[in-house]
Amino acid sequence: MNHSGVTLWFTGLSGAGKTTIASGVMSILQSRNCRVEMLDGDQVRTHLSKGLGFSKEDRDTNIRRLGFVAGLLSRNGIIAIVAAISPYRQIRQEIRQNTTNFFEVYVKSPLAICEARDVKGLYAQARAGKIQNFTGINDPYEAPLNPEIVCFTDLETVAESVSKVILKLEHKGYIC
Ligand code: PPS
Ligand code: ADP
Ligand code: MG
Repeated sequence: MNHSGVTLWFTGLSGAGKTTIASGVMSILQSRNCRVEMLDGDQVRTHLSKGLGFSKEDRDTNIRRLGFVAGLLSRNGIIAIVAAISPYRQIRQEIRQNTTNFFEVYVKSPLAICEARDVKGLYAQARAGKIQNFTGINDPYEAPLNPEIVCFTDLETVAESVSKVILKLEHKGYIC
């Protein structure tokens, strides 16, 4: 068993499947007695990043906080799972450079599918002009150029997407 930690960084549009896949990965890792923690954008914004909005500046601040905590966890042998839209390539790159064993997981789904899912009804609100700076509608999303893993959630089942991540960790020797 390799005891070095890992940061699994899930990025993608709202409704792409970040929380669903990250939670599935976490459950499997826990069942294998791995030490794991999850930082989900929605949750983190209720405490660590409470008060931040969705301007580029606030998103970058949020992402730097997530990266800082993930770095602390992973360098202490914990698998840190981050699930955040993290729409800007440059800040994801900054986190990558400052974090050992960084795995970028691009949770990829066409905007139309995410919007059709509209898990929380936010797309409808954004289209109605009730939410500003909504990623994909009136705010940018810069897709990863070289992610370690891509989950095509319009084509794969949740179980298939989760397995992809677990298999990658196995192949790299981070979990047995
Ligand atoms: S970011 O860009 O990484 O700082 O965003 P994150 O911390 O992951 O927070 C995204 C969740 O916030 C909700 N939400 C919005 N998302 C995007 N744009 C706007 N304007 C917005 N307002 C609220 C939404 O529930 C996001 O969660 P997910 O899980 O992605 O749907
Ligand atoms: P996000 O956290 O990126 O906003 P969620 O995980 O909250 O996304 O929602 C994704 C939705 O898409 C869920 O309803 C989930 O059941 C569905 N879904 C369908 N296929 C997949 C897949 N392969 N991976 C993840 N989610 C999927
Ligand atoms: Mg989510």
